[in-house]
Order: sequence, then structure tokens, then C-alpha cells
Amino acid sequence: MKIDTDDFVSKSLDWRTRALKSVAYGTSSTPRGNQKPAPLVAARASGAHVWDISGQRFIDYALGFGPLILGHSPEGVIQAVIAELGRGLRTATIHRGEAQLGELIAQTLPSAELSAFVSSGSEAVQLALRIARATTGRTRIIRFRGNYHGWFDSVHSGGRPGNDGPDTLGQDPAATASSVLLDWGDLDMLRATLTRDFAAVLLEPVAVNGGCFMPPDGFLEGLRAITREMGVMLIFDEVISGYRLSLGGAQARLSVTPDLSVIGKAMGAGFPISAVAGSAAAMEPVASGRLLHRGTFNGNPVSVAAAVACITYLRDNAAWLYPRMEAQASELAGFIDTEARAQGLAMSVRQAGSALQLFPSVAGVTQLSDAGRMNRPATDAFAADLMAAGVQIIGRGLMYLSSEHTDTDIAETKAAFAHAIAAAVRRDL
Ligand SMILES: Cc1ncc(COP(=O)(O)O)c(C=O)c1O
Repeated sequence: MKIDTDDFVSKSLDWRTRALKSVAYGTSSTPRGNQKPAPLVAARASGAHVWDISGQRFIDYALGFGPLILGHSPEGVIQAVIAELGRGLRTATIHRGEAQLGELIAQTLPSAELSAFVSSGSEAVQLALRIARATTGRTRIIRFRGNYHGWFDSVHSGGRPGNDGPDTLGQDPAATASSVLLDWGDLDMLRATLTRDFAAVLLEPVAVNGGCFMPPDGFLEGLRAITREMGVMLIFDEVISGYRLSLGGAQARLSVTPDLSVIGKAMGAGFPISAVAGSAAAMEPVASGRLLHRGTFNGNPVSVAAAVACITYLRDNAAWLYPRMEAQASELAGFIDTEARAQGLAMSVRQAGSALQLFPSVAGVTQLSDAGRMNRPATDAFAADLMAAGVQIIGRGLMYLSSEHTDTDIAETKAAFAHAIAAAVRRDL
């Protein structure tokens, strides 16, 4: 679908000029202000589509940075939330939804017997680390380069290739002093490093943030065996892969069960909710009340109602929904690959279930260590060309499918890719 880019850009920039006067960076999360050719200012959204303030429609593969597995404003979730809104927004008490949600997670996520709720993935990672330290009485953790675990100081380092230091300004370097960073997928390095004085190994079991890489054969199994042998807790950060890679996340799909799982994004269908889930033994410090689990908005009834509706829908429709999203992702990946070859553009496309990562102008990206070769100017320009053709992806080349993308959306998306590939060949970045 052709977009009137001048109209979209001028209206976006007008709004941005206004927002910049009262909102730092003009928005609430830095990447949202970096979209090219201009940050999209959403007016409304429905299903797989978002309309901006110029009234133009974009097919959405950014999906709120991942949570919108059921698309924008799914009917069942909206109905559940409306019903909940009529019952009061927040009481300083227990409410019934918490146990309903806990039961659903225990039914669907292999590692889950008990859950503890917070509002964001970053908070859930913080809670999981605290549980691991409380359980083991140790402080050190192992993390992996190129994985992302949220923006809190203790885990916000090593995200950029070639830099093990803090990922942004203003961080306390002491906060990462108890972490050791290793190369994701390298079991030998882990074997050589892990001792009994570590509390946990924390990782994305499928490296979606690094560029949609499935784990090398035997990596997760090896991790599971060594951590068990050493009495170190294995924590899977499934904030993206939970309820996305399969109903039971990466752990169900890859048949490796961690001690603790961190889930978020897709579980809430767009509402802010995350959880740490584990066996009763792994969750003991929280379950016994010994470890203080605090947070005014933890398990808020509206987000909990959304998550109950979302997970129930995913559970009841898993048989068609996951294969369909994944088939659409494969179809797009295949098309992009073929079209780029036909037009003579170097291009790598990685797929992890219903997530895709594009590396425009870069050939041969096959493992996480190759992701450092990402050509950022070419990726930005490619995303901008897709936007001009009516398709929104995440600026760094990441895309998600939802249950709401139709065959027509996929056909229009292919046409947009053909256009963006032609533009990239002309630009030659
Ligand atoms: C794997 C992973 N863990 C944790 C987080 C942090 O979640 P949140 O942004 O909800 O704080 C993210 C966010 O993208 C993530 O991708």
C-alpha cells in the first residue's frame, strides 16, 4: 500500500515538535523516538493494523515491541478488561484473578508450579535474580553477550557487540560486578567458568534480541545438566519467547525445563504484566514470605484479567494459531530471501518461530556472533522504505507475526518488501 510519505512525515514531525517541549525525547521509551523517516504517531490500531495521525494505515509487525500476539485490541481481552474495570481498579487486597492466572500458567508453562507477578519484564528479571540469590545464598551470576534482560543496572551490559560495559549512561558500574559475561551458545566456555559459588545462569533460551537465533544443539541440555550438578539455578528469560515460541514457550518447544522462568510481553496481550514462575522448591523464598515481594501495581486486576483472557485464548487455539503464525513468518522469510537474491541485494533473514530478524546489506549471518556485522544505516533505511510502503517493523530489523495477520496482509507485505529491496539496491549502503 502506497503511503503519502510527505503527509505522514510532516504530521509526525509537527506532533513531535510539540511533544519534545514537555516530554523528554518526546516519548516514553527512547527507541520509539528513533523511527525513520519519522516517528510514527499512532491515532488508533486494530487487529494487525495501526493508523497514524495522518489517517494512513500501516501493517504492523512491531506489535508493541512484541506483546500483541493477538493483534491490537483483541475482542476477548477487551471484554475481560471492561468487565474488570467495573469492579474497581485496585484494592489493597488479594483478588480472585491472581489464582486464576497462576493456575493457567501452571497448566501451560512446564517450569511453573508457583508464579509471582510484577508489571514489567525488567522487574521480573530483578525478582528472579533475587530469588536465586536467596535460595543459593550466593551472589554471582552468569549472563551472555547479546542477550537482553531489561534496563535495570545489574543486567544492562554486554548488549552491544564488542562492549561488555554498561549499555547506556548513568549506570552504576558496581551493579554488574557480580555478573560474568560469556558467549551465548558456548558450552565449553560455560563449563570452564561455572563453579559452585554462582547463584544463577540467566539467559534467553532463544536469542531473539540478538537476532532470532535458536540455541546450538545441546547447549540448553548441557546448561541444564551442569547447573543441576553445581546447584546453580537456571533462569530462562522468556519475556519474548514465553507464549510466543509455543504455548509453553521455548522450554516446551526445546524440552529443557529451567528452575525459574521469566515471562512477560505476550502473556498480557498488551497490558503491563510479567511473572517469575518456577517449581515450589525454586519459588520457596517468595512462597514462604521470607523474601519480600513488593510493588504497588503487582498483579493489578486489570492486567491480570487481560492475561487470563489472553492465555485462555492461546491455550484454546494453540493448535492452529502457532503453526499459522510460524508458516506466515516462514513465507515472508522465504520471499525476502528469494527477492533479495533476484534483485542482487546482500541480505540475511533469521527466523525464530513467529519472529523474524532482517540484516539488510549483510550476507551470511548464521550465528549470534555474526549479528555484530549488522549494518545499522542500511537497516534504518530499509525500515524507512518499508514504512513508506505501508509496513511497520521494529527499526533494528525485528518483526513479529500475530494471530491477526491475514493472507492479504502477507501479500501486501511482500509487495512492500519488493519495493524496499529495490530501494536498498539503488542506495547501495
Ligand atoms: C528477553 C527480555 N527480557 C526482559 C525484557 C524487559 O522487559 P520490559 O521491557 O517489560 O521491562 C525484555 C524487553 O524487551 C526482553 O526482550
